[in-house]
Amino acid sequence: MRLNSFAGGKKLLALLALALLLSGCEHAKKVALTGRVTSTEEGLMEGVLVSAKQAEGPMRVTVVSDSKGVYSFPADRLEPGDYDITIRAATYELYDAIHTGKISTSVRTGETTNLDLKLKKTADVASQLTSAEWLESAPGSEQEKSKLFRCVACHDLAPVMKSKYDEKSWPTTVKRMENWLAPSVIQSPLPSPLPPPEGAPDATLTAYLATINLNGRNTWPFALKTFPRPKGAATRVIITEYDLPGKLRLPHDVAVGHDGFVWYNDFQQPIFGKLDPRTGATKEWSLPILRPKYPQGMLTIKIDKEGNAWLPRFFQGCTLVKFDTKTETKTTWRVPSEFDTDQSRCGHVALGAPDGTVWMSDSGGRKMFRLHPDTGRFDTFDSFPGYVADKKATAIETAGRKSKGHRTYGIGVDSEGNGYFADIAGGTIGRVDAKTGEVQLFPTPTPDSGPRRTNMDREDKYWFGENYVSKIGMFDTKTRTMKEWTPPTPWNGAYPTVRDKTGAVWTVGMSTDYIYRMDPASGEFTEYLLPTLNANLRRVDVDNSTTPPTIWVAEVHQGKLAKIEPLPN
Ligand code: HEC
Repeated sequence: MRLNSFAGGKKLLALLALALLLSGCEHAKKVALTGRVTSTEEGLMEGVLVSAKQAEGPMRVTVVSDSKGVYSFPADRLEPGDYDITIRAATYELYDAIHTGKISTSVRTGETTNLDLKLKKTADVASQLTSAEWLESAPGSEQEKSKLFRCVACHDLAPVMKSKYDEKSWPTTVKRMENWLAPSVIQSPLPSPLPPPEGAPDATLTAYLATINLNGRNTWPFALKTFPRPKGAATRVIITEYDLPGKLRLPHDVAVGHDGFVWYNDFQQPIFGKLDPRTGATKEWSLPILRPKYPQGMLTIKIDKEGNAWLPRFFQGCTLVKFDTKTETKTTWRVPSEFDTDQSRCGHVALGAPDGTVWMSDSGGRKMFRLHPDTGRFDTFDSFPGYVADKKATAIETAGRKSKGHRTYGIGVDSEGNGYFADIAGGTIGRVDAKTGEVQLFPTPTPDSGPRRTNMDREDKYWFGENYVSKIGMFDTKTRTMKEWTPPTPWNGAYPTVRDKTGAVWTVGMSTDYIYRMDPASGEFTEYLLPTLNANLRRVDVDNSTTPPTIWVAEVHQGKLAKIEPLPN
C-alpha cells in the first residue's frame, strides 16, 4: 500500500515535471521578447509599433501592442543576439531613448526577455508626419491640396512644409522641380536630358504653397493632425524589414520568386537582386548601359510561371530583359528602332499570356508591344489611336467624357491573351484585342482617377490603384464593368492593387506608410502600419504559397524590403 502510493506519487511527480518542462518549452518557444507599453497620458497603450533591429545584421522585426498594451515577439522571429529597440506611435517617442540615445536588449536561447517601454509626448510632431497627414492638416481647398499631393513622388511633403519660400520665390523652385526626372530623390537628383516644359508653373499652386509653409513664421498656421494608431485586427501582424546593401538603394519593386527568394530592382541604378528572407543575405546583378545620358534604373521586375525574372529597361531604350534564375543568364530584346525614341519609357511588363507572348508598354511613346520570345518579333499597338501626344483637342471621348490627355502606365493580360493598360493621364482602362488588335477605352467611374499599377486576378478581373483620387478600382474584363472602393485614410494615393488567393485585395501608396487589406465581400479595410516613416510604397506582391498569404512591399525611399504577415484573429 505504502509502496504503491509511493510509486503512484513518483509517477505523479514525474508527470508534473514533464508537464512543467513542456509548458516551459512551449513558453520559451513562444516568446523571445515581451513587455507593456505605457505613457502618463494614456496608461496602457494599444497600437504602438515596437521594432527590434539586429545590432549586427540587416533585419528588423516589428510587432504591435495589443488592447492590453502588451507587445510580444515570437521566439522563432528573433534569433538570440543583441537588438536595438525603437517604436512608432504618432505624437510619442520612447522615454528612455531621450536620455540614452537608444534602447538595446538581448535575446537568449530558451529565455523570455522582459522589457517594459515608457513613452513620452514628443516635442517635434512635424518630424513624424506622413505626406497624407500633412495634407489632412493643411488648410486649403480640395483642388489646392490635389496639386500639392502631386508633389509627393521624389520626396515627401516635409521639405515643402518646412521651406521658407514666399509667393515670389516659389515659382523658381517649382520650375526647378520640373527639370528632375521621376527616379530623382533629394540626395540624388537626375536632370532631364530634354528641355523642361515651357511656361511658368501654376500660379494658384505657388500662391497656395506660400500660405502653408514657414515663410515669415516659425510655426505652421494650422494644427498638425495625425491619423489614429492601429487597433484590433491592424495590431495582429508581424513585419520583417530587410536593409539592402549599397549606399543609395532605391528598390522600386519587389516580386516573390518561386524558390523562396524575393527579387527587387533599383530605380536609379541598372541593378536587380534577390533576397533570402531567412537570412537577409542578398545577391545582385547589373545590366549594361544602353543610353548613357538617361537614367539607368528600372520601374519593375516580374516573375513568370517558371520563376524567371523580367525587367523592362525603362529609360534605357525600349528593351526587355529576361533573367533565367536557374542558369543566371540574360536574354535581351529591343523593339524595332522606329519605335525606340528619345521619348520611350518602356517601364512595364505583363506575363501570363496563354501563348507565351509577353506584353510591354511604352508610356512615353503611348504604345503596347507584344513580344514573341521564340522569334523575337514584336507586334506594336497604338494605345490611343488618333491621339496626338499633348494635343488636347485630339483626346478621346469615352462615355460622354473627354479626357485631358492620355498616357499608358501599368499593364496586364487576361487568360485569353488580350492586353490591358491603365491610362494614367486619361482616367481610362484600355483593352487591346489579342486577335484583331482593336483598342477600346473604358472610363473609370471617377474622372481623372490616375489608374496606375495593375494586376489581373485568376478570374480575369483587372485591379488597379487610382493614384490621383486615392481609391482602388476593378475592371471586370468579362462583363466590361468597373467598381471602385475607397480606403479609409484620405490622400492615400493608392498605387498598385493586387488580389491574393483568399480573395483579399491589397494596396499601398507613396503618401502613407500603410499596407491596406480590403475584403471585397464587405468592402472593409484593415490598415497595417509600417514602422518606417516615408517608406514611399509603389508595389505590393503576395506570396500565395503561405496560409494566410504573405505580403511584400519595397520601401523605395528607405532602401528596404518588407514582409508583412497578418496573424489570424
Ligand atoms: C520629379 C521629382 C520631384 C518632384 C515631383 C518634386 N520635387 Fe521637389 N525636389 C526634387 C529634388 C531632386 C530635390 C533636391 C534638389 C533641389 O532642391 O532641386 C527637391 C527638393 C525640394 C525642396 C527642398 C529644397 C529647397 O529648395 O528648399 C522643396 C521645398 C521642394 N523640392 C518642393 C517641391 C514641390 C512644392 C513640389 C511639387 C510642386 C515638388 N518639390 C515636386 C524632386 C522633385
